[in-house]
Amino acid sequence: MSKLPWKPWHQVVQLRPDLLTGELSMTQFAADLYDVVMDRGSSVYRTPYEFFSLTYPTYNLRELAKDVVHRLAGKSDKAVRQLELTYGGGKTHTEITLFHLVRDPASLPDLPTVHEFRQHIGMTPPKTKVAVLPFDKIDVEKGMEVPGPNGVLRWLRHPWSILAYQIAGSEGLRLLHADFKDEERDGAPAEPLLVDLLSIPRNEDLSVLILIDEVMTYAYDKIALDPPWRGRLKNFFQYLTQAVTKLDRCSIIASLLASEPSKNDAFGKEIAQEIFTIFRREREEGIQPVVKEDVGEILRRRFFVPDSIRDSQAFRPNVVATLQGVTALDDPTKKEGNAAEQRYLASYPFHPDLTEVLYTKWTQLEGFQRTRGVLRTFALALRDAAKWDQSPLVGPNVFLTEPGKPGVSAAAREVSDVASKEEYEGKRQEWDKILEGELAKARTIQEEMSGLNFREVEQAVLATFLHSQPVGHRASLRDVTLLVSPAR
Ligand SMILES: Nc1ncnc2c1ncn2[C@@H]1O[C@H](COP(=O)(O)OP(=O)(O)OP(=O)(O)O)[C@@H](O)[C@H]1O
Ligand SMILES: [Mg+2]
Repeated sequence: MSKLPWKPWHQVVQLRPDLLTGELSMTQFAADLYDVVMDRGSSVYRTPYEFFSLTYPTYNLRELAKDVVHRLAGKSDKAVRQLELTYGGGKTHTEITLFHLVRDPASLPDLPTVHEFRQHIGMTPPKTKVAVLPFDKIDVEKGMEVPGPNGVLRWLRHPWSILAYQIAGSEGLRLLHADFKDEERDGAPAEPLLVDLLSIPRNEDLSVLILIDEVMTYAYDKIALDPPWRGRLKNFFQYLTQAVTKLDRCSIIASLLASEPSKNDAFGKEIAQEIFTIFRREREEGIQPVVKEDVGEILRRRFFVPDSIRDSQAFRPNVVATLQGVTALDDPTKKEGNAAEQRYLASYPFHPDLTEVLYTKWTQLEGFQRTRGVLRTFALALRDAAKWDQSPLVGPNVFLTEPGKPGVSAAAREVSDVASKEEYEGKRQEWDKILEGELAKARTIQEEMSGLNFREVEQAVLATFLHSQPVGHRASLRDVTLLVSPAR
């Protein structure tokens, strides 16, 4: 191939070494609150330095941090907040952000992201006792092991005990027990008892933050196993939200959804509705911590070496080169002028329409989990494509196989598997087979034609596929043109 009028994208931005060597396991794209509390698992989430290096403080996330800190400082009525119901949308990441921000505010790392949070919040967070209820980790029979205030771990079975022990250790359990025993009780404690419990940290001038995640994962199985728990759990959440509302330096952030879609059947929906109603009574509007416009920046922070993405001016030559290709074929983009340039710059090295299609159309597929789905898909694609891709930016090109290799790439297989799980009018499609067939035809056409140096027909196959999901959507000629034209 003759000399390119641009640098391939992987020479403009540098992939993180852990991504390239394949050590980056896919579980790293699932934030785990319990691991953070137990101080184990991926350091990406556990260590404040690594965590804030990778975290993009989206507007909604900063707003939430501000509200929560103000509440913990006794300056706000917004006691109970609920994270909106999207799969893989950043709910747990948001809870971990709050955990690190308030647990030991004096030792926060000196990082731009931390400064952005501080600036936005407008005050230093008060030192806070944080208790967590990651319900996906509470076994319906054995419960969960949690650390008390002195760090001593203890296995406890019921959610209120797990909460009480984190807040006040054995003293917390005794306070809830009818005979002041250091033992568990079987029913939900009433509001006044919870008020007393949550007041204990005030003796050490600590505020209280309770982080609740994945309620439905537990509720579904627990109630199926033992139906009276339906009432017990409802009572617990009812009394807990009331208690928290009464105490001025206390807050709850809750995410109810089970990340496992199978818990979303009729039975699950019924229970979920009851619990939502309890949290909704106290709650302000739901919070969506990551919105579509944030995805570009999140992807950048997760995949590339910080030094290589610090100066967005360095992306400009590639954006200009890209737009030369696009505007030659697409008048609307040409008319957009500077606005188009800003859009491409903001999402560089990702083609803005590629993240858009994944975030808008693909997130309607049950198996594709929003931010996580986009992260997983690109992790596979970039790792492979960085070895051979010559394109100015990340578009459908990264879903191709290495030049000369037949079949379907790992990344394309990942997305086609998601699509193949969907039922449409009672039927499933084997999308990987369809893609394989179409890509083989595309290669034959490319061999017969000169001038298609960037495997444009294969790219068109992928662009068409990506735009045509979920079934019922279609790819317009313009959709395909926009995705394929950057390499001219
Ligand atoms: N603001 C952010 N900055 C950087 N990465 C983020 C941000 N928000 C979310 N992520 C990343 O996106 C991925 C998905 O987020 P997370 O696991 O929090 O989603 P979730 O809503 O809890 O999903 P689920 O419904 O499956 O539990 C994780 O890898 C997480 O670290
Ligand atoms: Mg989660």
